[in-house]
Amino acid sequence: MAKPLVVGNWKSYVNSLKEAKQLLHALEKSMPREARAGAVLCPPFPLLDTLARNYRGTCFSFGAQDAFYESGAHTGEVSMALVKDAKAKYVILGHAERRARGDTDMIVAKKTGAALDARLTPIVCVGELARDKEGHYLAELEQSVLASLEYVGPQSFKKIVIAYEPVWAIGAPLPPSARVIRETVIFIRKALAQRFDRADVLKARILYGGAVNGDSVAGLISESCADGFLLGRASVDAEAFAGIIRAYT
Ligand code: PGA
Repeated sequence: MAKPLVVGNWKSYVNSLKEAKQLLHALEKSMPREARAGAVLCPPFPLLDTLARNYRGTCFSFGAQDAFYESGAHTGEVSMALVKDAKAKYVILGHAERRARGDTDMIVAKKTGAALDARLTPIVCVGELARDKEGHYLAELEQSVLASLEYVGPQSFKKIVIAYEPVWAIGAPLPPSARVIRETVIFIRKALAQRFDRADVLKARILYGGAVNGDSVAGLISESCADGFLLGRASVDAEAFAGIIRAYT
């Protein structure tokens, strides 16, 4: 099994370099010496370069929260090449908050392809908007998983990370049960097996994200089958983030 990954998406919660450094300082103090899980921090763009360069070689890796699939006349966008140049290793793509602003599966697919070309590790987010008793959401999820990976070939599939993030759980008070997450992670693997090699699919990292915090994490680690977590709110709380990493030791 791949090494679990705990990814902190700082969203727009951190609003100055000073604040970011304070958070990193607090995180460094609370992190365990040895951890079974890798820790990835995804700050807003203007902080990424400074943090990724200054904190290289520490227990953290860095990632961007999004990036665009092309360079050129795209005002306000940031290219994969620039993210790579900032010494980031990861890029979150297709987060629900980006999809709500217009990122379709097709756009996510292009971004995923461009991230791989730039030698970044894409963290591709997928998740249903809501659940219905008839289970129609499963078809929606399957379609979204496969369409978002449209340009991923058999070799590059080994390099991607998938994050299952049900939109209804993001920002919610509590995450769904470990059983709900486990069943969906298994469903996603089945969907992936339609396109990719079964052995690679079994090894693929599938994270869970949505309302994960220090209180809920122990049960999710042991029972959800997720290979790590994508955190929003808990990622800007040093004690909560470090506690989640510690839960893996
Ligand atoms: P949350 O956000 O942990 O604050 O629910 C999760 C996410 O948006 O990835």
